[in-house]
Amino acid sequence: MLRPPRRLFPPNRAAATGTGTGLDRRLLLSTPIFYANGPPHIGHLYSALLADALHRYRGLRGAGPGRLSTGTDEHGLKIQQAAAAAGTSPPELCERISGLFRQTLTQAAVSFTEFTRTSQPRHQRAVRRFWGALRDAGALYKGSYEGWYCTPEESFLPESQLAESRDAQGRLCKVSAESGHQVHWTKEENYMFRLSAFRDPLREWLRDNPRAVSPEPFYQRVLLWLEEDLPDLSVSRERSRLPWGIPVPGDPTQTIYVWVDALVNYLSAVGYPEEHGGWWPAAHHVVGKDILRFHAVYWPALLMAAGLAPPQRVLVHSHWTVRGQKMSKSLGNVVDPVGCMGRYTVDGFRYFLLRQGVPERDCDYYHEKVVKVVNSELADALGGLLNRSTAPSINPSNTFPPFSQSCFPKVSDYRETGGRGRASAEDYELLVSVASLPLRVATYFEGFQIYKALECIALCVRQTNSFFQRHQPWKLNRQDPSEKLWLDTILHVTLECLRVYGTLLQPVVPHTADKLLSRLAVQPQERGLSGLVFLPRYHGEPCPFEGRGLGEDSGLLFHRLEKAKHQWVGSREL
Ligand code: MSP
Repeated sequence: MLRPPRRLFPPNRAAATGTGTGLDRRLLLSTPIFYANGPPHIGHLYSALLADALHRYRGLRGAGPGRLSTGTDEHGLKIQQAAAAAGTSPPELCERISGLFRQTLTQAAVSFTEFTRTSQPRHQRAVRRFWGALRDAGALYKGSYEGWYCTPEESFLPESQLAESRDAQGRLCKVSAESGHQVHWTKEENYMFRLSAFRDPLREWLRDNPRAVSPEPFYQRVLLWLEEDLPDLSVSRERSRLPWGIPVPGDPTQTIYVWVDALVNYLSAVGYPEEHGGWWPAAHHVVGKDILRFHAVYWPALLMAAGLAPPQRVLVHSHWTVRGQKMSKSLGNVVDPVGCMGRYTVDGFRYFLLRQGVPERDCDYYHEKVVKVVNSELADALGGLLNRSTAPSINPSNTFPPFSQSCFPKVSDYRETGGRGRASAEDYELLVSVASLPLRVATYFEGFQIYKALECIALCVRQTNSFFQRHQPWKLNRQDPSEKLWLDTILHVTLECLRVYGTLLQPVVPHTADKLLSRLAVQPQERGLSGLVFLPRYHGEPCPFEGRGLGEDSGLLFHRLEKAKHQWVGSREL
């Protein structure tokens, strides 16, 4: 049954179903704030691109006001040690690395509206106020704490999260089971947070909000954690050991634990403690799986203790490996995103990471895969289709050609045409696919499955190429009036498909989508998702593009990438 809907979006499913996805209201989307101990790598960029694509998508849907926050995590032992190792001071190291992150994210077209550095006074003030709220609520107490501390993870780890290994000298040592980093026995007087009191409130929060942690396997993981031991959390360090951090208000002998400091960035980004009211808790945090416990257990508990609601959603992604190996400085296989953007272009690399990155599982990065995906889907399929359907030889008037209903009659079932038109069953299938595409894409974006949205778009592009190929419009004779009608109709349908693809691809490949839409003369105010209509002429309604002159031909939409023989990453050949 063919029923391409006229308006491709329902009014607002979030509002209609009360699912609270935040599409109708204000929303803070966030990336994690990045440790300022080393330059960005592609894993960091992936976190940021996911958040950016969601933020851009919301903007195109005309949802309520949105903010995208990012920044750098600048305190703690890890930074203090990295600065010492680099022979510099923590503030100098942070200044340099924070600048690198800002530059890389800007270059990658991450449309952040806030960039928080935890060394900024406005953030530090928010942390002190948040600490005060915890203290006033009776959620803190001073206790003697001892346990295994993992500096790279900035975390005390329980026995259940430890494994045995050998250090550089071959001596037996304890390491974090998750990251493999060595842990050290640490004993000190700390402020403790009554995390253990929050087991039931956390369970309730998760039970009442089944989409609070996505995808589902991570939600289940958090529920399991809440079945295990939930000891109170040490939330300060002795200042004599850790001077690089925010002092505990009223106790200058202690420094606030770097994770409490860092998590509060989500509040300071929206003006806590004075102005956050209009925004909080409408927050969606994009985080990697390694920092899930901090975001789905500690953070909601801290917020509840401070009298605030937990964030609406925690969106979790897995990790990028490089040729099957974990990325690490010691293996020398850390992939530099700036190099990648230079080699594959900004949009090419954005497309690759978002198309191939599956939040539920780790994904492998290697050069040949980037070239293959980007060349086949962006350069050949999408770029080729635009090129073929706008070539002067096939479209000499350089306008958006008219659609003929006699060539492509409207039917509720293809079999009813009785052979009247020239369109085939597959052509009707194409219409159904493209008409339903925006809604499918919406569902995938809301479900944090951007890769699936891109897969659907890529399939439709392929279907449109087959449509074009099937009818061989270049063989039709423009001088013959009936052939011209059909030729124009083929071009009209193709350009309509391209317009839908360009519109939907804006959150992922903003520059390429802009080039595509500009070539089709789609004006900025016509690029939103809420008013997106596909092929209105099929329904006998006017099409604002029909007869319009096309935009300037600014060359190939996307240049094919070179298949370089070798690629160097860090100090190794990839
Ligand atoms: N500073 C903390 C976050 C504090 S948020 C209140 C931190 N920083 S990080 O720089 O180590 O990591 C930032 C993000 O990059 C995390 O989401 C992390 O999961 C992600 N990635 C780090 N390595 C990664 C891969 N190899 N692959 C994908 N993302 C990974 O954690």
